[in-house]
Amino acid sequence: MHVLITGGAGFIGSHTADALLKRGYGVRILDSLEPPVHQGVPSYLASDVELVRGDVRNRNDMTRALDGVEAVIHLAAYQDYLPDFSRFFHVNSVGTALLYEIIVERHLPIRKIVIASSQAVYGEGPYDCPEHGRIWPQARSLEQLEHTIWDIVCPRCHASLVSQSATEDTVNPGNSYAISKHTQETIGFTLGRRYGLPTAALRYSIVQGPRQSFSNAYSGACRIFSLRAHFGQPPLVYEDGGQLRDYVNIHDVVDANLLALEQTGTDGEAYNVGGGKAIRVEAFARIVTDVFGIDVRPEIPGKFRFGDTRHIVSDISKLSQLGWRPQRSTTESVRAYRDWLRQQPDVKNFSTDANRTMESLQVVRHVRTDTGTSA
Ligand SMILES: NC(=O)c1ccc[n+]([C@@H]2O[C@H](COP(=O)([O-])OP(=O)(O)OC[C@H]3O[C@@H](n4cnc5c(N)ncnc54)[C@H](O)[C@@H]3O)[C@@H](O)[C@H]2O)c1
Repeated sequence: MHVLITGGAGFIGSHTADALLKRGYGVRILDSLEPPVHQGVPSYLASDVELVRGDVRNRNDMTRALDGVEAVIHLAAYQDYLPDFSRFFHVNSVGTALLYEIIVERHLPIRKIVIASSQAVYGEGPYDCPEHGRIWPQARSLEQLEHTIWDIVCPRCHASLVSQSATEDTVNPGNSYAISKHTQETIGFTLGRRYGLPTAALRYSIVQGPRQSFSNAYSGACRIFSLRAHFGQPPLVYEDGGQLRDYVNIHDVVDANLLALEQTGTDGEAYNVGGGKAIRVEAFARIVTDVFGIDVRPEIPGKFRFGDTRHIVSDISKLSQLGWRPQRSTTESVRAYRDWLRQQPDVKNFSTDANRTMESLQVVRHVRTDTGTSA
């Protein structure tokens, strides 16, 4: 079978391509090789992959890429923290609609589509109030964050809330990226059902492992902390470091992609693909410094990223029922990333520039000092 991977030159796509090739699939990639993620064709790309250089928003590129394939793993996406809101919908939502449009228009014999979604669709995720039960809070206000009130309280009785892991049944997207990811799923499920195109969506948690680009602002704590640790600097931790997250190894994600591709019972369903374990961001930062063998404490400089969730951890029981389990530990993921990073030529400390950009665009902000002004 021939599989098209959109965004296949990227982190998750290239590992998925390797695994598919190993299983005897033919693999084509549609990728625009977006800077700053890429500076040309990445050297890790397998030589027996067919690369179509093009954009998921471009009808001709997409048509060319779909010719002769029987399944699609749709990973290409715009992901960042910058406030160019409409771009998330152009690339992610419109790109997905175009994929289905061309398949339907040309009666292409596509047997399966797997859409890369995200844990981001849960926003702040579910919380329980001892008095008022289950609550799906909205994003925290700027004022709250500026005054270092990190935790979420019950909007009715102001009691402390207890974060719960998110199951697939309720979403609560809180930013453009998350909304666009949820629209990708909705487009896929709705058009897939109507036109007989079996579609599954995978909501990845924070994915970790080699090849994760270290040259863009988005790609997650492992990259950002590792890059700083590589240069002997302490990880820069936002808020108070008490945020809960779950981290999943790239090879576990690849296993999930293959399962969703090959198993028919996944049609019309969204599945969480997470690490199955809540870890505080500060604890994760310490894993990174331990793995890099540097004796520094994480730096907590009184900054926050406006729009970040306080806690978000995925419940993975739905995918586990199909036989999938995360097999690799967070420490293993960080070790693999460290080893890969050390082999890369010309590693620059991109995190300094990325932080400056995010601060100048007021994505990253300072907490208020006691004089009442932003620091
Ligand atoms: N990495 C994570 O932690 C994570 C978490 C949740 C969801 N996801 C989702 O997984 C998917 C893959 O993410 P990744 O981490 O491999 O990212 P990545 O940036 O490494 O790869 C994305 C690839 O898509 C390509 N691309 C971007 N815009 C394109 C366009 N308009 N046309 C064609 N190609 C384009 C890029 O060049 C890149 O090669 C994305 O859909 C992302 O939203 C990733």
